[in-house]
Amino acid sequence: MNLLIIGSGGREHALAWALSRSPHVSRVYCAPGNGGIADDLRLDADGTDFAQVEAIVRERDIGFVIVGPEAPLVAGLVDYLAERGIAAFGPSAAAARLEGSKGFTKDLCARASIPTAAYRRFTDAAPAKAFIRETGAPIVVKADGLAAGKGVIIAATVAEAETAVDNILGGQFGSAGAELVIEEFLEGEEASFFALVDGENVLPLIAAQDHKRVGEGDSGPNTGGMGAYSPAPVMDAAMCDRVMEDIIKPTVAAMAADGTPFRGVLFAGLMITGKGPQLIEYNVRFGDPECQVLMMRLQSDLLPALIASAKGGLDRVALHWSEACAVTVVMAAEGYPGSYAKGEVIGGLDAAAGVEGVQIFHAGTAGSHGEIHANGGRVLNVTATGATVSQAVERAYRAVDLIDWPGGFCRRDIAWRALARERTKG
Ligand code: AMP
Ligand code: GLY
Repeated sequence: MNLLIIGSGGREHALAWALSRSPHVSRVYCAPGNGGIADDLRLDADGTDFAQVEAIVRERDIGFVIVGPEAPLVAGLVDYLAERGIAAFGPSAAAARLEGSKGFTKDLCARASIPTAAYRRFTDAAPAKAFIRETGAPIVVKADGLAAGKGVIIAATVAEAETAVDNILGGQFGSAGAELVIEEFLEGEEASFFALVDGENVLPLIAAQDHKRVGEGDSGPNTGGMGAYSPAPVMDAAMCDRVMEDIIKPTVAAMAADGTPFRGVLFAGLMITGKGPQLIEYNVRFGDPECQVLMMRLQSDLLPALIASAKGGLDRVALHWSEACAVTVVMAAEGYPGSYAKGEVIGGLDAAAGVEGVQIFHAGTAGSHGEIHANGGRVLNVTATGATVSQAVERAYRAVDLIDWPGGFCRRDIAWRALARERTKG
C-alpha cells in the first residue's frame, strides 16, 4: 500500500521513517515534507487545499492518509476524505475540537468529572478582569482557539493577566482569541501521554516529557518543544493507569455519547500535581518532538494500529515498546522562537547519523541529500536511544557536535530531570 503523510515537521519525518518499515507499505509520500524525505516522495501540497489532497490520493494510488498537524484536522480534512471514500488517520473536525477549542474541552471535563484546573470562559474584558481581580495571581489566561502554541499566558501578577485579556480579545491571535479561558495555575511536573482511539476502544501508547522553554534550566519563552525523552520517569505504570481511568477513558466515552466519537491519537498534556494527574490540555495529533522518541522505542508495525484507529478494531491490536531510553535534541535557528535567518547550508549530517543509536529527523530543512539547508525555526531533531538516559543523551550530543551549522543552537540540558533521577537511583 502507498501512504500519504500530511505535514512538514520532525514528527512527520519520524512517522515516515517508522511506517516505511511496515511490510505492508510500498511508498510513503509526504506533503509537503522536508529535506529529510527523498525527492521523489515529497509532494507539493500542505493539507489546506482538500481537493488537492484528494487529487494526490487518486494519482499516486494512496491507500491511507495520515494527517500530522492539528490545523487540517480542525479544518475537517479527515471528514472531507471520508465523504469521498478515502481512509485517513485522525479525528473529524467535531472531535478535533478537543484541541481546537480550550473552552469545549474544559466544559467536557466539567461534565465528565475529569481532573483539570478550575476555569471560567469569557468573551468580554470587563467580567474577565473582575474574575482575575477576585481570584488573584498567579493565574493563566488562554485564547480559546489554535494559536500555534502561543495563546497561553502564565500571569505572575493581576496586571499581567489583565493585559493578556486586552491583547487576546484585542486580536493578538485573530479569531482564535474571540473567546478566553481563564484558569487556576497548577503546580507540578508536566508529562505528555498518548493513546490511540478508534471511537470506542483505547490503546495506551507510552509517555514522554518535552522541554517547552527555549533556554537551559527551562527558562525563556515557550517554543513548540526543544527536546523530549521517553520513558518519562514521573509516568510509572500506576500513574499511566490512573491517567487512563480518570482522564482518557471518560473523555472517549463522553465524545462517543455526544455523537462525535474521537478517532486518532489523543495527546494529553498533563500536570502531575500533589493531588494527582490533572489535564492541562488535549492535542489531537502526535506531539512534536515527542513523536520522535515514541517512534524510536516502537518495535511493532505502526500501520495496522493507525488503520484500526481509523476503521475500528483497536481492541485486537497490541504494540510492543523497547525498554531503551530515547532522547531527542532539537537544533533550532538562532533567534527562534523569534525571527531567524533561513538558507544556511548544514554539513556533517552523515557523520552525525553514523553515531551508534542515532537517527536524525529533519524538521525545517529544505534541499536534498548532500545539500541540506535551514528553512525554519526548529530545524533538526537529533535523536538517540541508549540502555540508560545518560547513554542516550551522550550519543545525541555526540551527534549534535558533528553537525556543522554555525547558525544553529540547541539546549544542552535535555532530559535533565530523568538524568537526575537516574543518578540518584544509581
Ligand atoms: P498549553 O498550550 O495549554 O499546553 O499551555 C502551554 C504551557 O503552559 C503548558 O505546557 C504549561 O507549561 C503551561 N500551562 C498551561 N496551563 C497551565 C495551568 N493551568 N497551570 C500551570 N501551567 C499551565
Ligand atoms: N511538543 C508539544 C506539542 O507538540 O504540542
